This record gives sequence, C-alpha cells and structure tokens, in this order.
Amino acid sequence: MSNGLTIALSKGRILEDTLPLLAAAGIEPTEDPERSRKLVLDTNQPDVKLVILRATDVPTYVQYGAADLGVAGKDVLMEHGGRHLYELLDLGIARCRLMVAGRPGANAGNGTLRVATKFVNIARRYFAGQGRQVETIKLYGSMELAPLAGLADLIVDLVDTGNTLRANGLEPLEHIADISSRLIVNRASMKMKHQRIKALVDRLGEAVSEAG
Ligand code: ADP
Ligand code: PRP
Ligand code: MG
Repeated sequence: MSNGLTIALSKGRILEDTLPLLAAAGIEPTEDPERSRKLVLDTNQPDVKLVILRATDVPTYVQYGAADLGVAGKDVLMEHGGRHLYELLDLGIARCRLMVAGRPGANAGNGTLRVATKFVNIARRYFAGQGRQVETIKLYGSMELAPLAGLADLIVDLVDTGNTLRANGLEPLEHIADISSRLIVNRASMKMKHQRIKALVDRLGEAVSEAG
C-alpha cells in the first residue's frame, strides 16, 4: 500500500458535483477529467491521485484497496452490499429517489410480478421484505422501456424530476430509498492512513455544510 491517497470517481454527475467539494478541500486535478482520456489523473497535491471508473465499479476498487477512497451513489452501495467498506460522509450530491415504477396500478395484482432493473439485489430484498413474490430481470439501462415493451410489469429505478417516467407513460408507485452520493473508504486504508484521511474528511465535511 502506497503512502499517497487514491480517490475513485465516476464521470458525469458525480465528477461534476464532487470536483468543487474536492477543490474546497484543496485538491484539484491538473487536467480536466471530463476531457482527458487518462484514467489516472494527477492533482495539485503530489500524493493524491484520482482514478476515473464506471459508477458501479467504484465500491469494488475501494473494497479491494485499489483505491483508498471513492464517491458512489447510495443506490450503487446498496446494490453492491458494502462489504469491507466504510461510509464516511454523505456528500449531499446527485440526490434522487429509488422507486418502484410502472403503469398506474401495475403494482396492485397479487400474482408473481416481473420486475426489470439494474438493481436486482435491492429489488429482491425490497419485495422479499414485504413478502411479495417477484421475478427480477437484470437490465443495464433504459429500464423505463421494459413495461412498454411488455418485458416486465414493474421497474426499480432512480427518479429525480420524474420526467423520464412521465415521458414513457409510467408513474412512481413505491418509494424504496432516498439517494445521495457518499464518500467511502477502504477499511485497511482507514487504519493505515487515518490522520491523512481524517483531515480530508473534515475539510470535505465543511465544504458539504457550506454547499448545503
Ligand atoms: P450511470 O452511467 O451509471 O447511470 P450516472 O452518472 O448517471 O451513472 O449516475 C451516478 C449516480 O448518480 C447514481 O448512482 C445515482 O446515485 C445518481 N443519479 C443517477 N441518476 C440521477 C438523476 N437523474 N438525478 C440525480 N442523481 C442521479
Ligand atoms: C437517470 C435514471 C433515470 C433518470 C431519472 O438516467 O436512470 O432514467 O435519470 O431522472 P428524471 O426523473 O429527472 O427523469 P440518466 O440521466 O443517468 O441516464 P443514463 O440512462 O445514461 O443513466
Ligand atoms: Mg445514469
């Protein structure tokens, strides 16, 4: 394990909303991460690097210690299971809700419903917790299409404005969880680099309260 800090981020919303928080904590990439084709970026701090991953891979890198810290949506963490990870801070960014959605009334029937989602673990846990029989179908995107195409009765997906659901004739039906992005840390890193990480978390925490 190196002495520096490696922080895992994903392109898009998380990068966009995390960079100002990192900047407030004194960490700035030396080139624009949205434009660069590099996957490992140096920062103004010689011992801090950023690695740019797919959102769903962030917990995996942090779990195995390939990154010390990471920023991931609570949805991604719930689906991953959070083994060997500590959640240090709610960054309050990329806020949305994890919902069951479908055509109006599609959740009413008492036969086995088909649920299409990229969050199969969350969906299974949610419906099992309510004693409801469902069959889950794993998708990797465009979940809103599944009920229209007759693939599934329901979807489990993220909802922010509700525009995507509305545009496809669907409605939010059941609320599963409020979502925002979290700073996560590898357990061994937390022990070995405690001072360094605590200092960063304190500064990020201040930046979050100022942004909030
Ligand atoms: P992906 O390519 O995996 O969809 P995104 O950048 O869209 O990556 O999503 C990253 C995280 O941002 C998600 O895990 C979720 O926590 C949050 N998120 C996703 N969609 C929205 C949205 N429409 N509004 C707010 N936050 C969102
Ligand atoms: C996300 C999510 C929903 C949509 C919800 O998609 O998967 O489809 O946002 O937001 P809304 O309620 O404001 O419409 P995203 O924009 O991340 O596109 P993606 O398919 O590339 O993930
Ligand atoms: Mg997305």
